[in-house]
Amino acid sequence: MSQLHVINHPLIQHKLTYMRKTDTGSKDFRTLLNEISVLMGYEVTRDLPLEDCEIETPITKMTGKVISGRKLAVIPILRAGLGMVDGLLELVPVAKVGHIGLYRDPETHKPVEYYCKLPSDIEERIVIVVDPMLATGGSASDAITMLKARGCNNIRLMCLVSVPEGIAKVQADHPDVDIYTAAVDDHLNENAYIVPGLGDAGDRIFGTK
Ligand code: PRP
Ligand code: URA
Repeated sequence: MSQLHVINHPLIQHKLTYMRKTDTGSKDFRTLLNEISVLMGYEVTRDLPLEDCEIETPITKMTGKVISGRKLAVIPILRAGLGMVDGLLELVPVAKVGHIGLYRDPETHKPVEYYCKLPSDIEERIVIVVDPMLATGGSASDAITMLKARGCNNIRLMCLVSVPEGIAKVQADHPDVDIYTAAVDDHLNENAYIVPGLGDAGDRIFGTK
């Protein structure tokens, strides 16, 4: 069964509060999102497997640990997911990055696919899907379905703000996928926006409204 990890470290809560404020501009919004992504990335990668590695320090030989097995891929859901990529790459610079383009139809609130470009060996990688907002859950669920159709079998979802409706959808559609979120907000409004939320994440990152 999918696990929900709420990563509510005080530094993350503090930065998220500033992101939520209406008068926080795009530059600060992007900076805060990047900083939170680094902090969340620390937890999202907590269970990566390790293997022994024989090394020599200037003093003696020893057995150290290095990350073993599968390599990582970071998959942002366009556009807003782009704001969480650099933070993860700071932690894992060798991760590959794929892109899934989805937008929500303003009338139906259902996701519409417009782009997909993934690393050629994606099925061999541990995949971290990133998107700041988990609202109805339609976009995240569809993105995960697209990845599974291409052979991915080790997927986790990292979002910033979620609501119970979105969490329930992803867990029902993808019981094998763990969800990492910084906050679980109250509900969705009539336009399927998260309340209290932070507004339209893509518009706030890119200054498009
Ligand atoms: C936002 C957000 C998610 C999606 C969440 O993207 O970044 O991808 O909505 O909503 P859902 O859980 O109800 O699917 P949007 O469609 O606004 O596109 P954008 O990132 O290009 O602005
Ligand atoms: N997408 C956003 O950017 N914000 C929401 O609150 C819901 C969907």
